[in-house]
Amino acid sequence: MNRFKRNVTTLGEFIIERQADFPWAKGELSRLLLDIAIAAKIVNREVNKAGLADILGGAENVNVQGEDQMKLDVFANEQFIAALNSTGECCAIASEENEDMLEFAGPVATQGKYVVAFDPLDGSSNIDVNVSIGTIFSIYRKRSIGNATLEDFLQPGTEQVAAGYVIYGSSTMLVYTTGHGVNGFTLDPSIGEFCLSHPDMKIPKTGGIYSLNQGNYNAFPQGVKEYIKYCQDKDKATNRPYSLRYIGSLVADFHRNMIKGGIFIYPPTEKSPNGKLRLLYECNPLAMIIEQAGGKATTGTQRIVEVKPTSLHQRVPLFIGSEDMVNQAEQMMLEFNSEKSSVTE
Ligand code: AHG
Ligand code: MN
Ligand code: MN
Repeated sequence: MNRFKRNVTTLGEFIIERQADFPWAKGELSRLLLDIAIAAKIVNREVNKAGLADILGGAENVNVQGEDQMKLDVFANEQFIAALNSTGECCAIASEENEDMLEFAGPVATQGKYVVAFDPLDGSSNIDVNVSIGTIFSIYRKRSIGNATLEDFLQPGTEQVAAGYVIYGSSTMLVYTTGHGVNGFTLDPSIGEFCLSHPDMKIPKTGGIYSLNQGNYNAFPQGVKEYIKYCQDKDKATNRPYSLRYIGSLVADFHRNMIKGGIFIYPPTEKSPNGKLRLLYECNPLAMIIEQAGGKATTGTQRIVEVKPTSLHQRVPLFIGSEDMVNQAEQMMLEFNSEKSSVTE
């Protein structure tokens, strides 16, 4: 080994190396991703001292979904908005924490080529118990001529040019795709850089973990109940029963399944027929990543990235993870739900 050759690739180096993948982008997308990485480092710093600073607890506001909003949600939202505003590439954003899209002022409003939708802090109920939380983002090219419009955010997930997440966990990682595979970078706090640690990530075709909020069991559709039973049944060939793991931070549950193989489900329930998770800034970006990693993401009946969004904060049911497991769950949804839906409709 050449002792004068550094064997670490930083996120910045990697993004520049991969710029050739986008002859049309002329570096704007690279700058956008690097600015997101800076915001992630700042949020990471605050998350890490969450127990120390006067930053814990609920802010006075309640977000647009009517859920309690933690102070760190507000902080993270502001950091990501500021980072995206400073790129000169992003003309408008949509965030879980803002009811409407937010257009940036100045020349960028018409000149910026991209719009970004994000969940600034995912799993925020886990902040004060020291459990992993995350950020999720999705980047689209602005289609409108002139200023961005709502339609630019309502493009189906198939149109995403890049998507990623940050997990603030036992170590902090940034994972992203631009449609050419998935790469993961771990933050080395001693040098303040995200370093390539998980090149070309692939999710195992099947796994041994199922992940859903089983407390809602009684409200689940019959297909999901049958799938849970399937996961719990003993079967040597498929290594069942599977283990149940549920962190309650989508990013953390997703990241574990990406590495170990598994399925995450947030099903429709009687009270919430579209589930809980948001299409634009939770389901679509993770769906793009999982597909790039060889896995699958559906609503139980339809590929997530093919759902045509109708509103910014739209919810969809989510079945996401290892291909074989999602296929199995989808098959059971098909088999056991058709009877019920024909009765209830
Ligand atoms: P957020 O903190 O951005 O509102 O997201 C919380 C989400 C997601 O992270 C997690 O998978 C899900 O809520 C957990 O919901 P339940 O408590 O209903 O299981
Ligand atoms: Mn979330
Ligand atoms: Mn959130």
